[in-house]
Amino acid sequence: MKKVLITIAITLVVLVVGAFIYISSGAYDISQLSHHNKLTLSIIKMTTHRSVDRRMSENPVPDNLKDSTVLVTGFQHYNQMCVSCHGAPGIQPNEMVEGLYPKPPLMYKHGEEDAAQEFFWVIKNGIKMTSMPAFKPTHTDAQIWAMAAFVTQKLAKMSPDEYKAWMKKYGETDNESETPVTMP
Ligand code: HEC
Repeated sequence: MKKVLITIAITLVVLVVGAFIYISSGAYDISQLSHHNKLTLSIIKMTTHRSVDRRMSENPVPDNLKDSTVLVTGFQHYNQMCVSCHGAPGIQPNEMVEGLYPKPPLMYKHGEEDAAQEFFWVIKNGIKMTSMPAFKPTHTDAQIWAMAAFVTQKLAKMSPDEYKAWMKKYGETDNESETPVTMP
């Protein structure tokens, strides 16, 4: 029994020292261009998914996600802050996205109607070690629900022409804090 315990202890020490030597040697390539292997990637994906799933029910879904004023408010924020990374019908993301890893998904191919609660949590909190920012420090819950509403209820159904028309009609706010917010 004692021998087994000593063997386990030595193995652990060797693993910890080995990991420390590997990390401190700089052998790990931190570049955005050096992608994760399949195992690491599936661990990260599962961690993200399970973490969001566990936390998202903290925020009950409001019942006004389909209201036109809410959708317009969501559009205004999305158009200002999200298009550069996530694109929109007829609008390519900014070219810097080519250099991002992980790549932001094209949101208009992606906005499942029942994903509002999940997306609210992601927009509010961001995703660690990716370029997805947290908007809690700068936006109210009502504004964030409006973005989640727009992305899940409207964006995927818009044609490039309709998106352009909304830009013309609603996209002219030059001061974001003046955007009307009508959600509770
Ligand atoms: C600088 C780039 C960047 C900006 C700006 C950005 N995002 Fe993201 N976003 C990302 C990346 C990268 C991911 C994917 C993260 C991952 O793979 O875990 C992501 C993921 C998401 C997801 C999760 C999608 C899913 O299927 O799980 C949502 C929802 C989202 N973003 C919404 C928004 C909204 C709304 C805005 C604007 C308020 C925004 N993002 C601004 C980079 C960005």
